[in-house]
Amino acid sequence: MEKPCAVLFDAYGTLFDVYSVGLLAEQLFPGHGTALGTLWRDKQIEYTRLVTTSDHGAHYVPFWDLTLAGLRYTCKRLGLDLTAEHEQRLMNQYRHLSAFPENREVLQALRGRGIVTGILSNGDPEMLGVAVRSAGLESLLDHVLSVDSVRKYKTHPDAYQLGVQATGLEPRQIAFVSCNSWDALAATWYGFRTLWVNRYQLPFEELGTQPTRTGSSLRDVLSFF
Ligand code: LAC
Repeated sequence: MEKPCAVLFDAYGTLFDVYSVGLLAEQLFPGHGTALGTLWRDKQIEYTRLVTTSDHGAHYVPFWDLTLAGLRYTCKRLGLDLTAEHEQRLMNQYRHLSAFPENREVLQALRGRGIVTGILSNGDPEMLGVAVRSAGLESLLDHVLSVDSVRKYKTHPDAYQLGVQATGLEPRQIAFVSCNSWDALAATWYGFRTLWVNRYQLPFEELGTQPTRTGSSLRDVLSFF
C-alpha cells in the first residue's frame, strides 16, 4: 500500500500531556483530582459535540471557552468550591501543558524522511500557538490546523477536511494520529489512515471499525514508513 505523504496529529492528550492538570486538580481538591480530570475532559468533549450538532452551529464558541465551561460544570457537579484563583490556576495549567517526551524525535524522524507534519485539533489558534511554542515544536510542524476556521468540532467531516485542504493530498495519503479512540475512529471513517496511540491500555470503540494501526507511543507512527 502507498505510504502516507503527511502525518497529522491530534493535540490534547496526543502531543500534549493533559495529566499535569489532574495533578494540580488533586493538589487543589485532595481526593477529587482524578474525578475532576476525567469529568472535565468528558464535559469539554460533550460540549464540542453539543455546539456542533445543535441549531446549525449557532452556539459555537472556541475550545478555550468550552474548556472553561466544562471546568465550571464539573466543579458544581462534584460539589467543589471553584474559587477565581483555582479557576485561573487550572486554566493556566491547561494553557501550558508539557509535550510527551518522544514528540521531538518522532517529528524530526518524519521530517528527515520528507513527510509533511502538522496538528489538526479542536484547540483554538491561540491555545495551540502557546502549546506549540512552549514545547518548542514550531520548526518541526508544517501545519497547525484549528477547527476554529470552520467553527465545527471533530468529529464533523469538515474538521478533518482541513487536513486535506492544507496539504492538497487525498485522505488516504494522510496518516492521522490520536490517543482519543473516538477521534481515531472518526478519522478512519473520514478516510484517513490512522494510528490510535493507546497510552492507557483502554479498549477501542465498539462500533465495528478499527483504526489502521494501534500503538503505545507516537513512535509507532514510524511503522507506516
Ligand atoms: C484535540 C482534542 C480533541 O486536540 O484532543 O483536538
